[in-house]
Amino acid sequence: MRATRSLPLALTMTFALTACGGSALSGDGGDGGGDDGSVKIALLVPQSGVYAPLGKDMEAGFRLFLEENEDQLGGKDVELTVVDEGAGPEDGVPAGTKLAQDDSVDAVVGVVNSATALGLTDAFDEAKKPLIIANAGADSITGEESSKYVWRTSFSNGEVGGAIGKHVAEEVGDGKVYLVGPDYAAGEEFLAGFKKSFEGAGGQVAGTQMTPFGKTTNFQPYLQKVRNAKPKAVFAFYAGSEAVTFVKQYDKLGLHDEIPFYGTGFLTEGGALKAQGKSAEGIFTSLHYSSALDNETNTDFVAAYEEGNEVPPTTYSVQAYDAGQVLDGALEEGTSGDDIVAGLKDTGEIDSPRGPWSFSDNQGPDQTYYLRKVEQQDGAWTNAVEDELTQPSS
Ligand code: PHB
Repeated sequence: MRATRSLPLALTMTFALTACGGSALSGDGGDGGGDDGSVKIALLVPQSGVYAPLGKDMEAGFRLFLEENEDQLGGKDVELTVVDEGAGPEDGVPAGTKLAQDDSVDAVVGVVNSATALGLTDAFDEAKKPLIIANAGADSITGEESSKYVWRTSFSNGEVGGAIGKHVAEEVGDGKVYLVGPDYAAGEEFLAGFKKSFEGAGGQVAGTQMTPFGKTTNFQPYLQKVRNAKPKAVFAFYAGSEAVTFVKQYDKLGLHDEIPFYGTGFLTEGGALKAQGKSAEGIFTSLHYSSALDNETNTDFVAAYEEGNEVPPTTYSVQAYDAGQVLDGALEEGTSGDDIVAGLKDTGEIDSPRGPWSFSDNQGPDQTYYLRKVEQQDGAWTNAVEDELTQPSS
């Protein structure tokens, strides 16, 4: 087992990295890292669409790790290229497939959207190239049927929803809860994970509405239906700009004062929370990170991140930072797909800002989920950590 990493604080190095936004790779005709002791990593994150802010956080997290490690991973100089995942699978799958097939790229990190990730796994499996998913939570990506080349440093959707189900059931007693989310893979899986653990703990669902993903700017007709059902609470998954709009319109319709609001932590994360402000006050969410987490690694990480970015880090930043941590170890084995996978299998406990975690047999993190509550502290809105959540046994 590799030794636990500690977090160095080399904060002010200038970037010696390449960042080609959105475009195809320059194609140096080489066959990836190795010969000159370098390694080529592509970061595939959204630079457009409702999830563009998430991509920005991930890029900042990955770059911070490189900055603290002399722009190296596994002792090899990193050539980094940033490619746009776009708004959904129609953009992300072709962009990712191109990277899977590009012999000059040694490994790919990123992918926000579950539908995009699901559309990419076969291409990476066929190319025998590691894909380190640093967000997309599609449940089936890591599991019995998964590719040995596809790893994840984030979460699986069902787990995030499932983590808070029992707590909500206990809070609402015999009342019913209404579920809302975007109508694609992630929305369905977050709500299904919640429903399973909520109903398992005796909860009852009042109704479910799936809103068109990436296209809905007026949530009022959906929220009106929620109000008409008179639920005791609401549970929602939204992220990025959809999270901002949904939470603000929930408040504008007066529901904020009427119906307690629960969600997955993406609802109130980072820039979304800043934009929501008071309209998010008191929302309870489940997530595996909060910038308010009280541990030494996180304190150092938040300070380093804020110095470079002037905003606190998010769960997206941490997932990408940790992708840097695991690749740093794995690339010591070599730069071929099979070398990197052998190295990933040997990853020990990661000393992460989210708390220590390690890969489970399904190539995703075995980690703690937290109950968070939106509060204002020292003039800034934050996700205060209330408790740890127990994952229901499936
Ligand atoms: C996903 O599509 O898996 C997804 C997108 C945004 C999030 C979380 C999950 O914040």
